[in-house]
Amino acid sequence: MDKRITVRDLAAMKKSGQKIVMITAYDAAQARWGDEAGCQILLVGDSMGNTVLGYDNTLPVTLEESLSHTAAVRRGSKRAMVIGDMPFMSYQAAQDEALHNAARYLKECGADGVKLEGGRAMLPTIRRMVEVGIPVMGHIGLLPQSVLKDGGYYIHGRNTQEAKDILDDAVALQEAGVFSVVLEGIPAELSREITARLTIPTIGIAAGPHCDGQVQVISDLLNMGGGYLPRHAKVYADLSSICITAIRQYCQEVQSGQFPAGGN
Ligand code: KIV
Repeated sequence: MDKRITVRDLAAMKKSGQKIVMITAYDAAQARWGDEAGCQILLVGDSMGNTVLGYDNTLPVTLEESLSHTAAVRRGSKRAMVIGDMPFMSYQAAQDEALHNAARYLKECGADGVKLEGGRAMLPTIRRMVEVGIPVMGHIGLLPQSVLKDGGYYIHGRNTQEAKDILDDAVALQEAGVFSVVLEGIPAELSREITARLTIPTIGIAAGPHCDGQVQVISDLLNMGGGYLPRHAKVYADLSSICITAIRQYCQEVQSGQFPAGGN
């Protein structure tokens, strides 16, 4: 029987040095792909703003959109842990609202936990969530929900003070009870230091090879959009070209009368 991966399994993986694989998934089919391929975690990232909904950044994603996609990913998967990524302003304004919104991922979508961006500023909210039983994944370094404040996407933690702030955030998040933390867009040496310091697993993206696990956006990994790809992305399959070629053939066959064949 398929048994869902739990926070205890991830802790054991960190302890034994087994790498954790996380991928984003936004619908049931992608969830099945990630699940069958052996990913431990499916993140229903707010990157859906860019990859699925066609926005320039993640800020417009709504809680209802995120919940709906999270429920689909849960339905499409059997084994991987499903994490809902709380969208901008669904957890920053008020602690009670954040708590209720986080609980909706568990109650309405069957998610195994939530992820939210931010370091020490988010501690009181994270502590409350953990106290009531919501598994929380942290996210520090480059924070896509702060893209306007930061003036773009770039590597964070390059100078000594910034690196110390990120390390202190990581330690504080662990103390607050997060079960894992995403390190995004930070130097490899810094993620090595954080990973060695923490007892919880670190999951990196554009953060070098030393994290306990890696996360990639499925649309980058499979070149689904056929447009801009971030520098850290590696394309394992070019779905965009495959799909366009297939649909072009369908167009030609309909126009030439070759499809449908026979009487139906
Ligand atoms: O939304 C997302 O896809 C993410 C990952 C890049 C970590 O937050």
